[in-house]
Amino acid sequence: MAFNFTVQRSMDKAIELWSSIPQAGHWALAGVGALFVARKALSFLQLLLNCFILSGTNLRKYGKKGTWAVVTGASDGLGKEFASQLAAKGFNLVLVSRTQSKLDTLARELTLRWSGLQTKTLAMDYSQDNDADYERLAQLLSGLDVGILINNVGQSHSIPVPFLETSRDELQNIVTINCLGTLKTTQVVAPILTKRKRGLILTMGSFAGAMPTPYLATYSGSKAFLQHWSTSLASELQPQGVDVHLVLSYLVTTAMSKVRRTSLLIPGPKQFVRSALGKIGLGGTENFPNTYTPWWSHDAFKWVVENTVGTTSAVTVWFNKRMHVDIRNRALRKAAREAKKQ
Ligand SMILES: NC(=O)c1ccc[n+]([C@@H]2O[C@H](COP(=O)([O-])OP(=O)(O)OC[C@H]3O[C@@H](n4cnc5c(N)ncnc54)[C@H](OP(=O)(O)O)[C@@H]3O)[C@@H](O)[C@H]2O)c1
Repeated sequence: MAFNFTVQRSMDKAIELWSSIPQAGHWALAGVGALFVARKALSFLQLLLNCFILSGTNLRKYGKKGTWAVVTGASDGLGKEFASQLAAKGFNLVLVSRTQSKLDTLARELTLRWSGLQTKTLAMDYSQDNDADYERLAQLLSGLDVGILINNVGQSHSIPVPFLETSRDELQNIVTINCLGTLKTTQVVAPILTKRKRGLILTMGSFAGAMPTPYLATYSGSKAFLQHWSTSLASELQPQGVDVHLVLSYLVTTAMSKVRRTSLLIPGPKQFVRSALGKIGLGGTENFPNTYTPWWSHDAFKWVVENTVGTTSAVTVWFNKRMHVDIRNRALRKAAREAKKQ
C-alpha cells in the first residue's frame, strides 16, 4: 500500500516536471532520445552484418601465392591454426615458437599437405628477451617477400591468482612475452611491410584486455597494453599501406584456456581462426578503431555487455572477479585431489 502510494507520488511529480518544461524542450528531449535509440539500432545492425553477412578484407590484398607470413606462437593452439589456414591459402610460412621439435613436426605436416609450400622455422623463447633471437629472426626474413605478421604468442597465468601472490617469474614472463615480444617482433617485421607498401599485422588481444579481470591482473594489463599499442600503430602505419588490427577473443578451446569442449560461446581454434582470417577489419561496434571480434557469439556477448553494464564498469569487474575466484577454487581443489592420489 505504502509502496503504491510512493510510486503514484513519483509519477505525479514526473508529470508535473514534464508539464513545466516548455514545448521546445519537449522536442529537444525527444530528439536526444531518438538519436540515442537510432545509434543503438545502427550499432545492433552493424553487429548483425559483421556476425552473419559481411566478409573482411581479402588476404590477397597482402600478397600473392608464395608471399610469406610470419606466425609467432605457431606450434600450438591458435598459432598452429593460423599457420595451417594461411598455408591453405597459398602463403609460405615463417613459424616462430619455443619448441623446435613441435615446429619441425608442423612444418613437415604442412609441406606434405600443400605442394609447393615453403616453410622456415625459428625456435626462440620469448621470455628470455634475447636480442640475438631477434637478430636471428631478421636474418631469416632477409630477402623474403613478407606480407603478413600474426603476433599470436602469449602467456597467461597458470591459474587465476591474486596479484600479490603472483610469482615474480610468472608476471615477468607474461609482460616480457605478451608485450616486449610482440613489440620487438613487430620492429623486425614491419619495416619489410612498409617497404613493400602493403601488409597486414594481426595481434591477438583478449577480452581480459577489454574488461579488467581480477585474479588475471597481469595478463589483463598486458592485453590492455596491446590494445592501445596496436591502435596507435595502426594509425602510424596506415599511410604506409600496412593494415594493423587487434583481434579480440573470449575463450577458445586451447591448452591456454584449459577448456576442452566447444560450446555456443567457446569455439575451437579452427572455427575461431577461420573467422579471424575471414573478417579482417570488421569493426564498427568496437570501442577502439582497428579492432575486431571475429567469433560471432563473442561479438554478440561483448555488444550486450557494452550496451548494458559497460565493459569497464564496477559491475563487470565484480562479475569477472567472482568468476575467476570460482575458477581458482576449482583449480586448487583439483590440484589437491591429484596430490592426494600420488
Ligand atoms: N585460448 C584462449 O581462450 C584465448 C583467449 C583470448 C586470447 N588468447 C590469445 O591467443 C594467443 C594464443 O593463445 P593459445 O590459446 O593458442 O595458446 P597456447 O595453446 O598455449 O599456445 C601458445 C603458443 O605460444 C608458444 N609459446 C608460449 N610461450 C612461449 C615462449 N616463451 N616463447 C616462444 N613461444 C612460446 C607455444 O609454444 P610451445 O608449443 O613450444 O609451448 C605455443 O605455440 C595468445 O596471445 C593468447 O593470449 C587466447
